Amino acid sequence: MFTILGLETSCDDTSAALVTSEYSILSNVISSQVQFHQKYGGVVPEIASRHHLQLLSPVIEEAIKEARLSFDDIDAVACTAGPGLVGSLLVGISAAKSISLAQNIPLIALNHIEGHIFANFLNKIAAPSARNDDFDFPFVCLVVSGGHTSLVYVEDFGKYELMGQTVDDAAGEAYDKVAKYLGLGYPGGPIVEKEALKGDPSSIKFSRPMMDSRDYNFSFSGIKTAVVYYIDKLKKETQPVRVPDICASFQQAIVDVLVTKTIKAAVAKQVKTIALAGGVASNAYLRQGFKLALNKTELNLVYPPSVLCTDNAAMIAAAAIYKYKNSDYADLSATVDANLVL
Ligand code: KG4
Ligand code: ZN
Repeated sequence: MFTILGLETSCDDTSAALVTSEYSILSNVISSQVQFHQKYGGVVPEIASRHHLQLLSPVIEEAIKEARLSFDDIDAVACTAGPGLVGSLLVGISAAKSISLAQNIPLIALNHIEGHIFANFLNKIAAPSARNDDFDFPFVCLVVSGGHTSLVYVEDFGKYELMGQTVDDAAGEAYDKVAKYLGLGYPGGPIVEKEALKGDPSSIKFSRPMMDSRDYNFSFSGIKTAVVYYIDKLKKETQPVRVPDICASFQQAIVDVLVTKTIKAAVAKQVKTIALAGGVASNAYLRQGFKLALNKTELNLVYPPSVLCTDNAAMIAAAAIYKYKNSDYADLSATVDANLVL
């Protein structure tokens, strides 16, 4: 058995975690910077990197303490090398290199998207969700977050095929922008989901761009713009803006597109399992949408618990396990890439 220290600093969450070779989480400390970015309605890169710098050391110490371990018990250090905000990524990789050098342990550099996918492996061991006993390769993973909306065919450890992705906004980004336009706050996803509970999802017919296109790409900028035009029109006509109905109808459009395209991809690849990952995967309406659609099929659905859907370091450590087993290490010349592809 071995233990990996994972670090995640690609956006606005500063996180450190200790995970064993059996995908067991010993600690997963996440320090959210939301309060520092909230008043700007989104993440400010310069503020994010400055806070990572201040927060990362105490977060690492806390993670080691919570796991009841010491630095000497760590067998490898893994960090996110991209995609993400370049300044934020640099803070993480610099810390990881220092630990690797000081402790004389391997450094493992990871793709953030790969981390999101591997959150499902932690789930498998730690908190199984519905019907995930059969969870194994190959599977199709919908990675849906603030920065990404991708359909990935996961054939095996390290074997990925990017089947499709958004051609404009990510789904989480659309949630955030709609919430901002409605003056609901940041991050928008959880707030829109809450508002939607009080609304009627069939009250407004927003379009579902690219839902029936032959490829596996997505487009969410059009839905967001349709919501903005709809609100503007209501205001111009001095009609009431029914926020819950707008949120519920917007969410229904997003969920319809995500569910339809993901199932299409899973059927095309003849897999048994669909996995969800990323911040938007914590949305209960999306999970329910998948469950309803999959009811009459043989496909299984797996998703991590919410805390492992949004950015965290346990998922980074989890993705590093097979790399450690394969001695797939980075050296001290490793650098970050804001647009790193899977
Ligand atoms: O994975 P994540 O923490 O960071 C990125 O890699 O982007 O995802 C953050 C995104 C934000 O856009 C946030 O609004 C969205 O995930 N999100 C949600 C929910 N919780 C977070 N979107 C919809 N419903 C939610 N419950
Ligand atoms: Zn993420």
